[in-house]
Amino acid sequence: MSPVGKRPDGERMWTIVLAAGSGQRFGAMKQFETIGSRRLVDWSMDTARSTSDGVVLVVPADMVGGEGVASGVANGVVPDAVVAGGATRSESVRRGLAAVPAEATIICVHDAARPFATFEDYRRVIDAVHGGADGAVPGLTPADTIKLVEEDGVVVSTLPRSALRAVATPQAFRASVLRAAHTGSAEGTDDASLVEANGGRVVVVEGSVMNRKITTPEDMAWARAMQAREI
Ligand code: CTP
Ligand code: MG
Repeated sequence: MSPVGKRPDGERMWTIVLAAGSGQRFGAMKQFETIGSRRLVDWSMDTARSTSDGVVLVVPADMVGGEGVASGVANGVVPDAVVAGGATRSESVRRGLAAVPAEATIICVHDAARPFATFEDYRRVIDAVHGGADGAVPGLTPADTIKLVEEDGVVVSTLPRSALRAVATPQAFRASVLRAAHTGSAEGTDDASLVEANGGRVVVVEGSVMNRKITTPEDMAWARAMQAREI
């Protein structure tokens, strides 16, 4: 499938789709469960492909070269490379990065566990990086009041909600900045945190409620209900 949608002038867009987790909280490898007729990884690959010049798919090591990944990706959406993931999310990103060619000028990282990310979600983060940010992430202001607590549960303080953002993927980065942040063996629950720690300027752009991460069986039930309603 040829890429659709115009990319910013002069940029070469590559996306790493992360599908190498074990799904401990879900109880199975959720990325290979289906929503409608397609697996989560297929939903995620489809959008990544439509926004990118190239896509690297990161899967569990025992699936590399297996039929289920390349041939099973729906609608002929096949990755440019399939690589084995690591023990942690950050390690999986590093393995994916190693397969992204030097031509990439902006690199997006996306969790396969967020099947409903849209072209617009990608476009907002890509545009922010094209505009000069080192990194950009989609964010939403939390609906709940958030408290900082000690390990025993005692509240330290109540954080000002207007200054908080719950962030998602796709996260976009200037390629050199993402590579620099992953030079060592830093660990984080997202890539922006590693870029921030390296002194990079990361901006939060508008996120979308539908771009929810599938973490638990309840999240999967929600996703299937949404799809059944033809979102
Ligand atoms: N991921 C990965 N490699 C890992 C860990 C996670 O590629 N070693 C991917 C997952 O497949 C998922 C995304 O990173 O698409 C976000 O991770 P998460 O939602 O935490 O998925 P899991 O790690 O699989 O789930 P859990 O933490 O419940 O085990
Ligand atoms: Mg995890």
